[in-house]
Amino acid sequence: TGKYRIVMVRHGESEWNQKNLFCGWYDANLSEKGQNEAKAAGKAVKDAGLKFDVAHTSVLTRAQVTLKAILDESGQGSIPVNKTWRLNERHYGGLTGMNKAETAAKYGEEQVQIWRRSFDTPPPPMEADHPYYDNIVKDKRYADGPKPEEFPKFESLKLTIARTLPYWNDCIVPQLKEGKNLIIAAHGNSLRGIVKHLDNMSDEAIMGLNLPTGIPFVYELDENFKPVVSMKFLGDEETVKKAMADVAAQGKAK
Ligand code: 3PG
Repeated sequence: TGKYRIVMVRHGESEWNQKNLFCGWYDANLSEKGQNEAKAAGKAVKDAGLKFDVAHTSVLTRAQVTLKAILDESGQGSIPVNKTWRLNERHYGGLTGMNKAETAAKYGEEQVQIWRRSFDTPPPPMEADHPYYDNIVKDKRYADGPKPEEFPKFESLKLTIARTLPYWNDCIVPQLKEGKNLIIAAHGNSLRGIVKHLDNMSDEAIMGLNLPTGIPFVYELDENFKPVVSMKFLGDEETVKKAMADVAAQGKAK
């Protein structure tokens, strides 16, 4: 086993996942299914006997509600929770609110796969006339950052990693070194960024990774924070594989 252990989980299915809309920084709620996934994740954490000292999550509701369900289900609802925009989902720019299948029909499945899973090809920008521009940019939850002049209009995975890693290095790693047991409840792409970093995955390899909603996974790290156990899901292999395939299939033109 590794010197350090950290549990990570993508939020349960959101209402926009269910409608197959690009979500990013839009603050969608969990769907009924997503709420049940979050409860099941809490049960899995409890059954595995996983205890945490501190939790980290994004400023988006779907991740915070998932985290709360997991902590409540596993009898640790009173631990401190750090909320940061740096763990937010990747900002999907001008694609925000668009249907993924319709976008694939319009621009081709290849292009949608590149927008969803490539390392450094960003989606088109969210301009000021975008239907969700005010909803997102003027949200008071961003009072603590990013600064207005740095507020993203879009993010590639590379840009997402660039704003997540400082939090990993400056906040998560020191807490692990202090011996704290942590859980991170975040998003499909912000977690893909952390996983790419931890496993030192190539830009090509990361294109193939789709993270399922609501199934926690464990990393065990050695003293140099190199994984000795990578992405060990708290779920049976069949279920995990099916859930990953479902996420990948969202980009198919119906
Ligand atoms: C979204 O932001 O639409 C989802 O949370 C992740 O979408 P993706 O799986 O298409 O990257």
